Amino acid sequence: MEKERTFVIIKPDAVQRGLIGKIITRFEGKGIKIVAMKLLSVSKELAEKHYGIHKGKQFFDSTVKYITSSPVVAIVLEGNNAIEMVRGMMGKTDPQKADMGTIRGDYGQFIGRNIVHGSDSPENAEFEINLWFKPKEISDYTCINEEWLTD
Ligand code: RTP
Ligand code: MG
Repeated sequence: MEKERTFVIIKPDAVQRGLIGKIITRFEGKGIKIVAMKLLSVSKELAEKHYGIHKGKQFFDSTVKYITSSPVVAIVLEGNNAIEMVRGMMGKTDPQKADMGTIRGDYGQFIGRNIVHGSDSPENAEFEINLWFKPKEISDYTCINEEWLTD
């Protein structure tokens, strides 16, 4: 299995609702390693770059407004098949359609307040990690549990 890095945002609604710890606990419990993390207020410029692939879509402006409305937690996660695994843990984009047991299914109610973001491909993960973090903000380290997370 490929060791990958992916980029996650705990969005403003989740921060405001006191869900930071619950969301991070899920990733820790799964054995996914946190290699970078910070709380920040997102500028319009950063938001528009991040959602650049959606420019021109009907939800672009509201999505930029949402992500800039209050601080977020930006995280880089590392693990086996991390991109797909984290997307699976988040559930479908619309929390109404997301399965119970997923982050969006358990904590969200509405597509416009859907709790988390996760990179959807290796290309976008690399783009997003470079957009949100400087190389020195990312820690390359070994966790003591790693040898127990592969066979
Ligand atoms: P994300 O990028 O946040 O992880 O979400 P996603 O891949 O599951 O969904 P994507 O299609 O990339 O959409 C990005 C974000 O835009 C908002 N959205 N609103 N009202 C709508 O129909 C609509 N569609 C998308 C959501 O905040 C979504 O997470
Ligand atoms: Mg997306």
